[in-house]
Amino acid sequence: MFLNPLKPAVILAPMEGVIDAPMRQFLTRTGHYDYCVSEFVRISSHALPSKAFKHDVPEILQGSVTSSNIPVLVQILGGDPTLMAESAENAIAAGARGIDLNFGCPAPTVNRHDGGATLLKYPERLEGIVRAVRDRVPKKFSVSAKIRLGFDDPGAVYENSRRAEQGGADWITIHGRTRLQGYMPPAYWKPIGEVKQALSIPVVANGDIFTLNDFKRCREETGCIHFMLGRSALGVPNLALAIRRELGLDLITVPSPLLFPDLDTPGEWARIFEEFCLSQPSDKRLKQWTKYLNKHHPSKGFTWWDQIKVLGSHEEIVNHLKQLKAT
Ligand SMILES: Cc1cc2nc3c(=O)[nH]c(=O)nc-3n(C[C@H](O)[C@H](O)[C@H](O)COP(=O)(O)O)c2cc1C
Repeated sequence: MFLNPLKPAVILAPMEGVIDAPMRQFLTRTGHYDYCVSEFVRISSHALPSKAFKHDVPEILQGSVTSSNIPVLVQILGGDPTLMAESAENAIAAGARGIDLNFGCPAPTVNRHDGGATLLKYPERLEGIVRAVRDRVPKKFSVSAKIRLGFDDPGAVYENSRRAEQGGADWITIHGRTRLQGYMPPAYWKPIGEVKQALSIPVVANGDIFTLNDFKRCREETGCIHFMLGRSALGVPNLALAIRRELGLDLITVPSPLLFPDLDTPGEWARIFEEFCLSQPSDKRLKQWTKYLNKHHPSKGFTWWDQIKVLGSHEEIVNHLKQLKAT
């Protein structure tokens, strides 16, 4: 799965513990995303066999696409080039369409075990991992890298991105923050644009695109045509559609596109949440989703968000919204 350097794209971000296969399935039914990236699969003491990837990224069993036919890339995370390369090869043998390498995870346990953002401190190691994986993955499958600006020094982005390209990455995604910043605002887009100017592979801009205005500023500051949305994919579900329109992209044809209602139509949200719950293995994701909606949606002042976030189960939430509609 290669990124067309000349064609804009909107990409659904990997979010470990939140955007899993059922969530990817649900969110790609909107027809807003060109592809998605799986949650990271961690490679620690040994290479993972093909069956582990089939388990962790179940779309592999159906051609590595969601049921709406949107490609899913497999993301792996680890610090040992040999184990990463062998695992990548096994993922491809299992049916993956491309491998994305995680050099951005800020989790202390992951970083302590030589994975994620910690590699940003060692550009030559980062390059070595990209190269080892690129060498083992057949050329018809993509190898991409996802980085932050740096571990603690945002200036590290220039060398790390150059190293990723030199190692053979087909494109890179840059989250405009250091590991030290965690998720503290703001995300810095300007360096993403500078990297884009310096490299000849596509650069995907990522971080803090929560409104159409954010998107326009990010596009202006970076000059990018490829964008990745994470928290706003959950918190502002219609944003990707607005961005597609702005980029002149069509809605991707999916069997039954999911259209999110206006915020002041609780009855419609009751229907969406009911449908959502049926698509999920547990109630956990509804609470998570509601949390992101509550936090990031521009209309979070709407009283019914405050009311539903304290409710316990999905039945309670759906019933409450139905009652609101009736009043
Ligand atoms: C809960 C959570 C889980 C995440 N998991 C991953 C992951 O598995 N792999 C990865 O590369 N990035 C991961 N990220 C980072 C996001 O992909 C993205 O880079 C970051 O949230 C910034 O983009 P946003 O402002 O659009 O959310 C995660 C972020 C969050 C909030």
